[in-house]
Amino acid sequence: MERVSFVNGKFLPHSQCFVHIEDRGFQLADGVYEVILLKNNKLIDIDWHLQRLFRSLAELEIKFEQNKTYLEQIILELFAKNNLTDGSVYLQITRGATNRQQIFPTNISPTITATVSPLKIINQQDLENGLSVQTHQDIRWQRCDIKSTSLLASCWIRQKAVSAGDDDTILIRDGFVTEATFANVFIVDKNGTLITRNADNFILQGITRNRLIELAKNNGIAVLEKKFTVEELLQAREVFLSSTTLLVRPVSKVDRQIIGNGKAGEISKKLSGLYNNFIH
Ligand code: PDD
Repeated sequence: MERVSFVNGKFLPHSQCFVHIEDRGFQLADGVYEVILLKNNKLIDIDWHLQRLFRSLAELEIKFEQNKTYLEQIILELFAKNNLTDGSVYLQITRGATNRQQIFPTNISPTITATVSPLKIINQQDLENGLSVQTHQDIRWQRCDIKSTSLLASCWIRQKAVSAGDDDTILIRDGFVTEATFANVFIVDKNGTLITRNADNFILQGITRNRLIELAKNNGIAVLEKKFTVEELLQAREVFLSSTTLLVRPVSKVDRQIIGNGKAGEISKKLSGLYNNFIH
């Protein structure tokens, strides 16, 4: 069966989903998006995702008339049409299509598209072995709190890591860790404190990040939301990444230097378990 996707009010076969050549998403990356997890037919933290989406739209002054219920219904219907009870949805809203111009046009309607994918199952051994990541200067713009589709810098940096045989990159701005190319970064320091950067304009405030902070606090793990340096990253007992699609993903090497004992750490595993229980 061909995948069904959504474009501007219509559910269509994936191969028939198109947008205009002058869509501002296509020409200018003038759009925002969300990736949301469906587990056992339930959308995980949907309210937080839609709240963040509406915030991104408002920050970029994209006028969007529909409400959260409309979007939630589209997403659930899309999963149902694709016979998926577990998976992720990619939902994108651009400012719309018009003759190319720099100033935000006022008389156009946003383009809404959505498509779903099945979940990638990560085997236990890969989780245990952890990712090998590089560090790289964070060359993105300074409004990373907006979930914008302008992701070329992130793709380019991640590609460099993958071409060099690593899995991903942790970004550094002014000596401090911001986040990974498509995920938030957590470390566990020598006292067992879980640390992740405070949600400023240099990171996306991840929904998985927020949920993990809450789960950690409720389960007796000390948490600090504060800036931390590359040195603290390299000396950490544990490092892991978090996102909707990676969930909790331990990191065992940073710039080829081994973190902790080179395997997924205790707190990372505990939080991974707590998060899995939560989404189940
Ligand atoms: N990315 N930081 C960045 C730069 C991200 O792109 C993402 C997610 C996150 C984690 O956010 P969340 O926990 O809400 O997924 C942090 C998605 C998954 C993506 O672009 O595919």
